[in-house]
Amino acid sequence: MPEREPIGVIGAGWVGLVTAACFAELGHDVHVRDIVQEKVESLARGEVPIYEPGLSDLILQNRERLHFTTDMGDVLQSAQLLFCCVDTPPLYSGDADLSRVERVVEELGDSREHAIVMKSTVPVGTGRSIRRRRDDLGYVSNPEFLKEGTAVEDFMHPDRVVVGAGPESQDFGDRVAALYEPLGGPIVRTDVESAEMIKLASNAFLATKISFINEIANVSEELGADVNEVARGMGLDNRIGPQFLRAGIGYGGSCFPKDVSALKQLAGNTGYHFQLLTAVIEVNELQKRRTIQKLQKHLGSLVGKDIALLGISFKPQTDDIREATSLVLSARLQSEGAHVRAFDPVAGARAADLLGGADIKDSALDALDGAHGAVLVTEWPEFRELDWGEVKDRMAQPLIVDGRNFLDSELLERQGFTYEGVGRAHAPALGAPTPVR
Ligand code: UGA
Repeated sequence: MPEREPIGVIGAGWVGLVTAACFAELGHDVHVRDIVQEKVESLARGEVPIYEPGLSDLILQNRERLHFTTDMGDVLQSAQLLFCCVDTPPLYSGDADLSRVERVVEELGDSREHAIVMKSTVPVGTGRSIRRRRDDLGYVSNPEFLKEGTAVEDFMHPDRVVVGAGPESQDFGDRVAALYEPLGGPIVRTDVESAEMIKLASNAFLATKISFINEIANVSEELGADVNEVARGMGLDNRIGPQFLRAGIGYGGSCFPKDVSALKQLAGNTGYHFQLLTAVIEVNELQKRRTIQKLQKHLGSLVGKDIALLGISFKPQTDDIREATSLVLSARLQSEGAHVRAFDPVAGARAADLLGGADIKDSALDALDGAHGAVLVTEWPEFRELDWGEVKDRMAQPLIVDGRNFLDSELLERQGFTYEGVGRAHAPALGAPTPVR
């Protein structure tokens, strides 16, 4: 075997491209297969179809080691470890749609030399079910823990790498683990089912943390506490930690909503009612809708009002709008009779169809011009840098609902804005208990 093992990557989506580019950066020849001819051609020209900081540069720098093809035969001939990176979107039932994964498995042919390395997020039990049908194939579960916007960084500096393999696939497990050794993070060797569960449980736990702090935020609003201060005080406890305690208008994206539902569903399929996750999901849905009430509190009826959405993507540094809160807000505002205008530094073009009748603007100022209220949906740094004096002059009514507690509330209030954050009541509500000293 050559010193740096060649690898195959199946599916040139976000996970596949980050995986391919990072392994190429580590010196591996990487053979990437996707079924979409135009995508393969544009990648071969060095054009990257998604926005992920650092990814284009990495692909360009490692062009010689990256090979893009539509032909599975090319990949099978060149590599034995085949990273499956196809997507597993949710079905109407809440279960994950595994049809793309199944197609990959079918295409692999008979071979004891190849192993499928599962990076796609799959239900617990998927590996066992594939092995039952294809005991000729090696099988390794190697879930990804990449965050959109910092995926390259996360890959190169992992908190941990999880490698799950059954007794028959330990050699393949060793080879997969060896690929990550240069990165220096802890490598968790375990069985396939536990590896699959680590992925789902990690996302479910992080989503739980967010829904928890959002509920604390809502209660803080009633009782006069500031959730930012509460999170700061809680997060310094090592057992709690400061991460994922940012209150806001709910989590979105392609992972948390899907994976939390999938785990709930998976438990349900076994007859177990996962009550905690049911609450986590419900809190998240209600959190998005509370924004409408905050606008109504100041504007009364929203019929005929112009409302600006600052940010469309589900978080900054990505153009991904899957399960983005902006989509729910846009629909809800329009059904309340408001006219919605929205701006996002990168996601505007993608969003046009999904935002219904919303008007996509070319700049934040265009979106804010004449608006009766604005909602900060995504914490893009450039929104903090806006000339808020000019914004105030341009808006029909200077009302800002800061869905991410991101803007400088004192500055805005000094300039005459009405500012509403999340979980940050300014004065104790009537009837709030006297603080205990
Ligand atoms: C998430 C996980 O963080 C990754 O570890 C995982 O690999 C990935 O899903 C996946 O399964 O592929 P990602 O969806 O890119 O990554 O985004 P996050 O940064 O985790 O944010 C998710 C959502 O939670 C965003 O809408 C964000 O605004 C929200 N969030 C995050 C909060 O509302 N509060 C926080 O404190 C943190």
